[in-house]
Amino acid sequence: MYFILKISIVLFLFLLWFYYSKLFGAEYFPTGKKKIKKMLEMAKVSKNDIVYDLGCGTGKMIIEASKRCKRATGIEIDPLRFAIAKVNAFLSRRKNVKILYGNFFHRNIDDANVILLFLRAKANDRLRKKLKKLKKRTRIVSHFWKFTGWKPVKVDKKLTLYYYRI
Ligand SMILES: C[S@@+](CC[C@H](N)C(=O)[O-])C[C@H]1O[C@@H](n2cnc3c(N)ncnc32)[C@H](O)[C@@H]1O
Repeated sequence: MYFILKISIVLFLFLLWFYYSKLFGAEYFPTGKKKIKKMLEMAKVSKNDIVYDLGCGTGKMIIEASKRCKRATGIEIDPLRFAIAKVNAFLSRRKNVKILYGNFFHRNIDDANVILLFLRAKANDRLRKKLKKLKKRTRIVSHFWKFTGWKPVKVDKKLTLYYYRI
């Protein structure tokens, strides 16, 4: 009985860790390797680009982006995922990747010219005003969720990826 209670508590805390960040924008689900590669290809990320992953989770996607761009910044609101992303960034030995703790709705991202997202429809729509203020021709790739009222320039239906330009 005591064992089942312990397992239930662990399971509950684990699920809470995945889901509570939905209150701020999205729960945690990592984007797979194949999709990350395709997202970076869709945005044609290159050595001149300043890339942001808004809600970077454990940092996998933004570290991968850092291999192709000038500067890569991930922003994460969950303290544990933020800490894991920091460690992953350190272990990657990449000098051009930065992981910031906090809420991306309140962070300055004005230097970005590529934005990577895997959030939720509501969070994407809340972000529109902030994204519209970015430099002209800023590229945005959203995994799974579209932006209401915005027409994607490219769609990968199979991988559910949507590519937009400001
Ligand atoms: C679906 S996961 C995507 C993780 C990563 N971008 C990827 O594609 O693998 C969404 C992440 O966004 C974070 N998040 C949600 N709302 C946020 C907010 N307002 N500010 C910062 N991070 C947020 C969550 O904690 C979660 O780790």
